[in-house]
Amino acid sequence: MADHVEMTKTTPMEFLYALLGGLFAPGLAIFLIVMLFLGIQGGMGEPDAAPLADKAVQERIKPFGQSVAIDPNAPKVERTGEQVYAEVCSGCHDSGALGSPKFKEKADWGKRMAQGYDTLLTHALKGFNKMPARGGDPDLTDLEVARGIVHMTNAAGGNFQATLKKDPEPTAAELARGKAVYAENCAGCHDTGVTGAQKISDGAAWAPLIKEGKDFLYHAAINGSFGGPAKGGNEKLSDADTKVAVDYMVEEAKAAIASAAAAKKTAAK
Ligand code: HEC
Ligand code: HEC
Repeated sequence: MADHVEMTKTTPMEFLYALLGGLFAPGLAIFLIVMLFLGIQGGMGEPDAAPLADKAVQERIKPFGQSVAIDPNAPKVERTGEQVYAEVCSGCHDSGALGSPKFKEKADWGKRMAQGYDTLLTHALKGFNKMPARGGDPDLTDLEVARGIVHMTNAAGGNFQATLKKDPEPTAAELARGKAVYAENCAGCHDTGVTGAQKISDGAAWAPLIKEGKDFLYHAAINGSFGGPAKGGNEKLSDADTKVAVDYMVEEAKAAIASAAAAKKTAAK
């Protein structure tokens, strides 16, 4: 019997492949597992990269977003005397710049206070020599300017109250004249509120206008305002007649405001 069983001879090359395969296969497996593990971990480190980026962007645009969101119809909050002083008046009055009376300096303020509060208010509102009207800030309301004055004068030993001049009350004769002028020239729009005119009986519409003061209303009625025609569209109407018509309207509006407030009171009971 011939010896058929012949051992397959292993060539050196085959041996090398086997050796490398044996070494590499597990190594490759381990390498892949490690890669897989690292991959999962990496992914876990930033699970929601997109929302985070969003947040960062939102954070960055925030100041702009906020300033755009300011409601232009929000009622203006009037500042305190201290705020008005710090924001506007201190620019000069802190140091006495341009010859202005210096803050807390009694010698500077004594003579000025002796003129009386009304004079100081008029000078501060309209300007006086190098003192600019409203301290140079046209956005300040009359009351804010008054508070600024009181903050300064009281710091120099004064004792003023921040009050504004009251409009003189119209006489009965003026109101009667105003009623007639109103009926002829103004009622067409202001009785009904047509064309967007403030209805004379609409207290809520008039309350903020009345606060602006008579001078503002006279000016609006005589020169026209936001769709309201000058002198109600009657060029021949005198300024004086236009003013008494405004007096009458304000009187009626005040009555409407008062009766609305009274109705609210009884409703609350
Ligand atoms: C740009 C500088 C400047 C600013 C800002 C300024 N003032 Fe004056 N103020 C002056 C000067 C200058 C005088 C003195 C004017 C004079 O007597 O000739 C003066 C005087 C005054 C007087 C005295 C007026 C009088 O009759 O003697 C008052 C009251 C006053 N200022 C109020 C204010 C108030 C309130 C503010 C802020 C809302 C303000 N000022 C902001 C420059 C300024
Ligand atoms: C053709 C219609 C019309 C007539 C006539 C008319 N008004 Fe007006 N008036 C308006 C309108 C519209 C407004 C509202 C403007 C607004 O939206 O603020 C207005 C507003 C006003 C205001 C408030 C000022 C303001 O800033 O809103 C006064 C004061 C006023 N009118 C006075 C008069 C007087 C006085 C007469 C008569 C002499 C008169 N109006 C006649 C349409 C009219």
